[in-house]
Amino acid sequence: MIRLTVNGVEHTLDVEGDTPLLWVVRDVLGLKGSKFGCGAGLCGACTMHLNGQPIRTCIMPLSAVAGQNITTIEGLSPANATPQQLTPVQQAWLELNVPQCGYCQSGQIMAATALLASNPQPTDADIDNAMSGNICRCGTYPRIRSAIHKAAGMMSASVNNPQAARNGELFSEVTLPQATNTEELSHG
Ligand code: FES
Ligand code: FES
Repeated sequence: MIRLTVNGVEHTLDVEGDTPLLWVVRDVLGLKGSKFGCGAGLCGACTMHLNGQPIRTCIMPLSAVAGQNITTIEGLSPANATPQQLTPVQQAWLELNVPQCGYCQSGQIMAATALLASNPQPTDADIDNAMSGNICRCGTYPRIRSAIHKAAGMMSASVNNPQAARNGELFSEVTLPQATNTEELSHG
């Protein structure tokens, strides 16, 4: 048995220790937002957080993360979140309509979230450096970069004006794209 905490919920898993974490999260726990891309640690589609740090879960054996805290895209905001309940990164992604096919985007959001947690005001070079391991075959890189700057601005504004953040005013100008379901950004 291996214990693991995923999105704040502790699990005791009867799974072989060499099973990749991505398989466990998707097939055992049923959280399908994290995607399988290359299976070799090269594309970032499977990115989750291990104790807040982004990791490639397609090559991470379950035994290596036993007893630790994993956050998936589903753990960033509540299920069926209103736009105001999404994280600044998710809000910025919606506002700038970042996804195209969407396949890489949960990994992109997890990488961007980790970047902003460690560097709240990244430069273009910081963003390019931090995000270089997350591949987007649709070429959404310019929108990803813009959305990270947007999220950084929202986070800074919420620190300076917490009441506005609580009221959702920082998100008040956002018009959701017609085809966008907020669940797509949090639950893949
Ligand atoms: S699927 Fe894990 S890095 Fe590509
Ligand atoms: S949005 Fe299609 S692969 Fe990134």
